[in-house]
Amino acid sequence: TNISVLVSGRGTNLQSVIDAIENGDISGAKIVAVISDKKEAYALTRAKNHNIPGIFADPKSFSSREAYDDCLLDILKENKTDLVLLAGYLRIITGRLTLAYENKMINIHPSLLPAFPGLHAQKQALEYGVKVSGCTVHLVEPALDGGPVILQKTVPVLPGDTEETLAARILIEENKAYPEAVKLFVENKLRINGRNVTILE
Ligand code: GRF
Repeated sequence: TNISVLVSGRGTNLQSVIDAIENGDISGAKIVAVISDKKEAYALTRAKNHNIPGIFADPKSFSSREAYDDCLLDILKENKTDLVLLAGYLRIITGRLTLAYENKMINIHPSLLPAFPGLHAQKQALEYGVKVSGCTVHLVEPALDGGPVILQKTVPVLPGDTEETLAARILIEENKAYPEAVKLFVENKLRINGRNVTILE
């Protein structure tokens, strides 16, 4: 399975997948490209450190979201991408990109979806006053943070939590959940039935 990863930032989730491949937890997969819309994304440095091609695609060089995503599609195809991972990728993705990789594009989000989609999910959770939160790994559909759920992990929200402390607690689970979900995909253990994802034994 050739995996391409779209990033915008620090890349801890990218790192968790790199590590799972390198230590053999995930076998039969290779990260063929890390693509960033931000030049300074630390995720690009992580790619470089592991001899993975890191590509900065500058949104400013394109006149529309569609033109930008066409460029991404070219890069994905050139690299014979079978699976696209969104890992802290902050740009909205157009329908042509999601459709081209229908059921082959995965995202991770720092809340228990459908609660708190969009930006600042951890802050939204604190403001709402929920007692548990967590992360969701899901297939990508055109709707923002929609798409069938592959797996979720929960954490408690504790008295005195700030956005930072809650985000850190959730991130620990994200960094476990993402490689787990990628492993299931690579091992062809996911069966998608409408909104329902079944995991084979
Ligand atoms: C994570 O919280 C992820 O859930 C969200 O963006 C953040 C990315 O973190 N989509 P990292 O770049 O993987 O460290």
